[in-house]
Amino acid sequence: MVDTQAIQAAKEHFGVVLEQQLERVERLKSAAPAVDFSSVPTIEVGVMGGDGIGPYIAAEAQRVLEYLLREQVASGKVNFRVIEGLTIENRASHLKSIPDDVLEEIKECHVTLKGPTHTPEQGDGWPNLESANVSMRKELDLFANVRPVRIPAEGIDWTFFRENTEDMYAVGSQGINVDSDLAIDFRVITRPGSQRIIEAAFEYAKRTGKTRVTAVTKANVVKTTDGNFLNLAQDIAKSYPGIEMDAWYIDIMTAKLLDPARRNEFQVLVMPNLYGDILTDEAGQIQGGVGTAGSANLGMQYSMFEAIHGSAPRMVQENRAQYADPSSMLRAGAMLMEHIGFPDLGQRLHQALDICGQYEREIVMTGRSTGATAAEFGDYIMSTVEDDKVGDRWQTYVHGN
Ligand code: IPM
Ligand code: MG
Repeated sequence: MVDTQAIQAAKEHFGVVLEQQLERVERLKSAAPAVDFSSVPTIEVGVMGGDGIGPYIAAEAQRVLEYLLREQVASGKVNFRVIEGLTIENRASHLKSIPDDVLEEIKECHVTLKGPTHTPEQGDGWPNLESANVSMRKELDLFANVRPVRIPAEGIDWTFFRENTEDMYAVGSQGINVDSDLAIDFRVITRPGSQRIIEAAFEYAKRTGKTRVTAVTKANVVKTTDGNFLNLAQDIAKSYPGIEMDAWYIDIMTAKLLDPARRNEFQVLVMPNLYGDILTDEAGQIQGGVGTAGSANLGMQYSMFEAIHGSAPRMVQENRAQYADPSSMLRAGAMLMEHIGFPDLGQRLHQALDICGQYEREIVMTGRSTGATAAEFGDYIMSTVEDDKVGDRWQTYVHGN
């Protein structure tokens, strides 16, 4: 028998979700333009350690960035500050994914560098809070999750533009158990939300001389939301002559990233949130592991840069935290420097990470006392970045000439 009361309650809940999302769309339409860092007197950079190995690798990344940006720090153009309190203990005691005072401090910074934070799940002993990442992306409207994956020796140079605030993530904790048998979650795709990520991908392609943007959806099955996303991508592509757009479905896309005959043809890829979550883990693994990749969460007003791996609590329990590899935080730091107006420094740091981590490997990290500490690796990176010839060294390793 149909339970009309349950249906009524579900309809009301759905009504609330619709109201909230329509209000959100209005906010998106009136969003302020992007910050121009050249005219900001002091760029505030917040560093949040997070959980587990997070504080160790975040501190190391801060040390390297402060060193590379020492002139800017001395002149007052850049200021680093540590933001405490984004820990699972503090979040649990406030029953908030991001406690209010922490969020306030984050909003005092233009950009932040964030270590991994523990994401509670049912039964792990912590209150089942929304992931701090997901909250921060929504709270600060960090709509573009940009994840570069490069394997120069194979000609692979992919940049993923993952939409970061919508799709299954927008109301992922507002699904409905209509009754004990029927559960419904909601997927949100908006026109302004899709437009800004697709345009960000095309603008990046244009700026960096790329010739192809690939849209990834499942529009053959998820016809309404993915259909709209794909149609919009096709429309937007018309304003970018010289950049070809192609469209792939997510299932075959995961296969083609593994196809050596095809994969180096992809350049810039744009997709809704969940497909991007999955595809970028696959791509990170192809590059050498998810621990090798960094991630930029960009918005108009704020941006956050992070490692894409977890907090490795076991390393701390076993007293091995000082051996945690800071590479992905340093990658995130390189993207941060590019973003705030120091692309040359960012590029040099990327090159040093390639040289030290993939080619020369004079200092190797094993995650244990058999290998180097994060600080030793940081020193190795700093001395490599400082070398005037770092660009030439990189060319030689990557292209063999
Ligand atoms: C990521 C992570 C997060 C996500 C988790 C921690 C919620 O997997 O940044 O890709 O799903 O976005
Ligand atoms: Mg992920």
